[in-house]
Amino acid sequence: MNPRILAIILAAGEGKRMNSARSKVLQPIGGRPMLSHILDSVAELPEAQPAVIYGHKGEALKDAMSADYPHITWIHQAQQLGTGHAVQQALPQIAAAEIVLVILGDVPLIRANTLARLAERAREHGFALLSTELDNPHGYGRIVRDEAGGVAQIIEEKDANEQQRAIREINSGIMAFTAERLQQHLPNLTNDNAQQEYYLTDLVAMSHAANQPVIAEIVKDDAEVMGVNNRSQLAQAEAFYRRRQTDALLEAGATLIDPSRIDVHGRVQVGRDVLIEPGVFFKGNVVLGDHVVVEANSALKDCSIGSGSQILSHSVIDSAIIGEHATIGPFARIRPKTVLADHTKVGNFVETKAANIGYGSKVNHLSYIGDARVGEQVNIGAGTITCNYDGTNKHQTVIEDGVFVGSNSALVAPLTINKGATVAAGSTLNKDVSANSLVITRVKPREIPNWPGPKKK
Ligand code: UD1
Ligand code: CA
Repeated sequence: MNPRILAIILAAGEGKRMNSARSKVLQPIGGRPMLSHILDSVAELPEAQPAVIYGHKGEALKDAMSADYPHITWIHQAQQLGTGHAVQQALPQIAAAEIVLVILGDVPLIRANTLARLAERAREHGFALLSTELDNPHGYGRIVRDEAGGVAQIIEEKDANEQQRAIREINSGIMAFTAERLQQHLPNLTNDNAQQEYYLTDLVAMSHAANQPVIAEIVKDDAEVMGVNNRSQLAQAEAFYRRRQTDALLEAGATLIDPSRIDVHGRVQVGRDVLIEPGVFFKGNVVLGDHVVVEANSALKDCSIGSGSQILSHSVIDSAIIGEHATIGPFARIRPKTVLADHTKVGNFVETKAANIGYGSKVNHLSYIGDARVGEQVNIGAGTITCNYDGTNKHQTVIEDGVFVGSNSALVAPLTINKGATVAAGSTLNKDVSANSLVITRVKPREIPNWPGPKKK
């Protein structure tokens, strides 16, 4: 298949300023590599084929990306001689395309519709690039315009004179061409500049000299075109990303007490009138029903929380399903494969794992419930432990409807406590309990009157 749009992503550079053992484009934003963000935007363009130019630490980069993105065309750049040289490596693929998009691997927040608009401009005019105006343009290539206001040249920071450095319109580095225009000029780049690199940006002056139009499409949202060269810019990009995510939550009808202190590394779907307090971190896919409250400093990953439920502060929930009107925490840890029915309560310092807890049941304090099936309207007293592990295998505990488990009980699995039974506090059980009976394993207290206590030597 010959792609109508070839999207070339430059990712071969060393990224020295990151001071990192890994390729710069693997640095995460929102918990995913910068390159993933770009590839996801490219994937939204119909008929676009992504091609990644790789080089420095390139094998590790390929390994990291290939599983999630099997359709990338990988193009090797053995020596990193500049952005223009990088694109030259793709000349054979360019010949087969209609439009070529060039995207820098360190400009992660570019949106798909901006790329689509740019490709359209290139189709109309042969060559289009994305620019923006910055209060502090330091480090970027500047857009030099001619008297008529047309784009005449891009001058890199290191090659610019004082007057050119004062220009606030910068090159995002993202460009689009007809294959024809690119093929005409790309082979003629030279490295006659401060960095002795083959600059992709020189194509502007070459086109201008040939009286061919170059269109600058000005991007309003700085975040989309920010380049990430160091950790400080990485943190800035993360802040832009955070803002995008929290804006979406606000728009969907959630109240965020402080949007700058909530992170979404994944996708959160919210119902109406959800309230999220500061310090909450979401990962993976999270669904919050209407009126859900998530209190401060909780971490929620891959879970759904039913309408009206409350996640009190400092709770951790991972891969779980929580019903409606449940109360979790404060300081609860809900581990994978936990399913809590409606109107359940899991309180402070309670850990659950692979536990199914039925309607209206309560585990209010200091317990571990793992590999367990708990029925409806069960009360589990403080300090109850399901002893699910014998050192080799895990075993199930079944606690049927209406059971009352007294505090500080050890339930040695496999074990079934049948309907309506009562377990006296402090029991250690290793045999099933019949329905409606009381089970007690307590040692009788022995009292010694007038005990003198120890004497000091
Ligand atoms: C580049 C632009 C500059 C623009 C800025 C926007 C050029 C000459 N300069 O500068 O005008 O304002 O981006 O952020 O294009 N790369 C390769 N092979 C190479 C060199 C670079 O693949 O031989 C890749 C890097 O891995 C990186 C991207 O190209 O992902 C940009 O390279 P970088 O060195 O960061 O360019 P800037 O100096 O930021
Ligand atoms: Ca850069």
